[in-house]
Amino acid sequence: MGRTSAAMAVFLFLLLSLFSILQLVSSSPEIRVLSAERRIDVTAPIARVFLTLKVENAGTSEVSEVLVAFAPTEAEHLAILKASVAEGKRKKKTYVPLSVNPSESPDAPNGAQLYSVSLRSPLKSGEATTVEVLYVLTHLLEPFPAEISQSEPQLVYYRDSATLLSPYYIVEQITSIKTPSNKVESFTRVDPASRVGSELRYGPYHDHGPYSYSPVIVHFENNNPFAVVEELVREIEISHWGSLQIRDHYKLKHAGARHKGVFSRLEYQFKQSVSGVASFRHLLMKLPPRVHSVYYRDEIGNISSSHLHIDSQKSELEIEPRYPLFGGWKATFTIGYGLPLQDFLFESHDGRRYLNFSFGCPLIETMVDDLTVKVILPEGSRNPTAAVPFPVDQHLEMTYSYLDVVGRTTVVLQKKNVVPEHNTPFQVYYDFNPVFMFAEPLMLISAVFLFFVACIAYVHVDLSIGKSS
Ligand SMILES: *[C@@H]1O[C@H](CO)[C@@H](O)[C@H](O)[C@H]1NC(C)=O
Ligand SMILES: *[C@@H]1O[C@H](CO)[C@@H](O)[C@H](O)[C@H]1NC(C)=O
Repeated sequence: MGRTSAAMAVFLFLLLSLFSILQLVSSSPEIRVLSAERRIDVTAPIARVFLTLKVENAGTSEVSEVLVAFAPTEAEHLAILKASVAEGKRKKKTYVPLSVNPSESPDAPNGAQLYSVSLRSPLKSGEATTVEVLYVLTHLLEPFPAEISQSEPQLVYYRDSATLLSPYYIVEQITSIKTPSNKVESFTRVDPASRVGSELRYGPYHDHGPYSYSPVIVHFENNNPFAVVEELVREIEISHWGSLQIRDHYKLKHAGARHKGVFSRLEYQFKQSVSGVASFRHLLMKLPPRVHSVYYRDEIGNISSSHLHIDSQKSELEIEPRYPLFGGWKATFTIGYGLPLQDFLFESHDGRRYLNFSFGCPLIETMVDDLTVKVILPEGSRNPTAAVPFPVDQHLEMTYSYLDVVGRTTVVLQKKNVVPEHNTPFQVYYDFNPVFMFAEPLMLISAVFLFFVACIAYVHVDLSIGKSS
């Protein structure tokens, strides 16, 4: 009895392992990358990578997804990943977005993280297609030296692999890295490698097996403003009386090489070309057209040094903190403005109202570590739902302001690691009973009326103690 059950168990175990092996085989069909071209842009503090993959189905069954791999250090800095496929011939070329999802990858070596790109139509055996991938990485450039004085430029390290990390065999590949200037201190050579001006070129390399990795370091000058918003809380308040009020609370930091030594304002002002080249003094903000009542203030009070340029397409606000920002320095401030409601509030087909506004941060070329967007709905709004084109954390809370009876439902959206690519429209839908629109005026009117009645009563009631006649 004991022996048969043991044999049975062994048999079952073998069967199960056979099944899992079969599953593994069927889940990694034979894709080959015919050519991979990677263009890496590290001219800004944010690293942007454009990847063109020409993939071929070298197996026998149909393939409906293509995997993209990231090293663990890259995966933790990944802010956004998008894929598309070009359709139509030369002049009528359009890019159709493809859906991208994290893929379970327990068998990927060295903790590589895989993402799966779903193709529009399955790729038949022997067919090939070209997939365009864009991804953005933040906090990847490391200032080295980590501390610089006022008269030194800022140098940074960029680490990557000369060959593309991929679960597939790659027939031919090339990588280029664009730096802000031709001031490149050093770069790891993996032949063939070359540098022309501000562009480094790795490859072409031929016939690399899956998960080839060849670490390289590039050390170069990058004096672009390393402006990082550590925390941004945006309050968007809808008033059905005609306006949208925005209040943005910023905690800004210069995340580049830390400033060492004393700061000389004299040197800063008179030797601007060499002094504090990695610091920044102004920041540019893109606001919607028809913005009004703009204010800019910090803990001390209003800051007058801001310039607003408005045209019919957009508005630009240039702000200047109280002092220039050097590496490691911070500034905290609030920017508020009003916008016409009819530009952002609409009615959907099913009679619900909705706000259509841009997600992300209005500061140009800036990353946000922690973004909170609060949409404060008018009093009496019900059943709010938010539609955001990427995953965000969301919850509801109540906001109370003066004259509120029941409070305002507030939709709170939170996202970490936000980059300019996240500045896309999002919507908040809600039901609204117009009766509530008159709640506040009615309260005011009744208050005035009650006061009036009280006055009349006071005047007419004779409280004096008269003599009885
Ligand atoms: C700050 O500016 C706003 C708008 O321009 C103004 O209403 C407010 O009175 C100012 N506050 C101070 C303290 O100057
Ligand atoms: C939201 O506004 C953008 C333009 O700012 C527009 O392209 C988009 O269609 C709008 N979305 C909805 C659902 O109205």
